[in-house]
Amino acid sequence: MALLPILTAPDPRLKKKSLPVETVDAGVRQLMDDMLETMYDAPGIGLAAPQVGVLKRVIVLDIDREDTKTGPLFMANPEIVEASDEDLSYEEGCLSVPDHYSDVVRPAAVKVRYLDRDGKTQELACEGLLATCVQHEIDHLDGILFIDHISALKRNMILRKLLKARKEQERDAAERGPVKTKVKDPEHAI
Ligand code: NI
Repeated sequence: MALLPILTAPDPRLKKKSLPVETVDAGVRQLMDDMLETMYDAPGIGLAAPQVGVLKRVIVLDIDREDTKTGPLFMANPEIVEASDEDLSYEEGCLSVPDHYSDVVRPAAVKVRYLDRDGKTQELACEGLLATCVQHEIDHLDGILFIDHISALKRNMILRKLLKARKEQERDAAERGPVKTKVKDPEHAI
């Protein structure tokens, strides 16, 4: 397994639409395993392939909370086949939008259909944080970030701060070598 670099906004690759995988072959399984390791290392609770620069419809998740424990979930070509009328607001963050959080409203419960790590079709009923997470990750596959769900004013402010932080990081790295920063709030890093 290998750790993959996580892209951060604004990066044009995060705005692209990803393509379905034809079959879950050894290459896709390798990608899934590398993504899971990368997500655990960040640490976060969800990661989509375009966040590591691979434009394939592949996501990984692992939610470990008192009320929801999923274990590692690998999904290729995930699609929402049912969504509740009831909504849920959750303060979302993202490994590609480090250190910024915002409330996003989405359906509170969804059913997702996908191919698992063995290439078998599965359906999973999701609610609460898992429902939020699955929808957030599928958004990534369509080039949508959680900041696209908030006001343009707030989005642009976050993007400006991210650019500034990236420049500072590059300057620090030039002086002291690469510094790996850890996610402060993994509950929201999805
Ligand atoms: Ni994300």
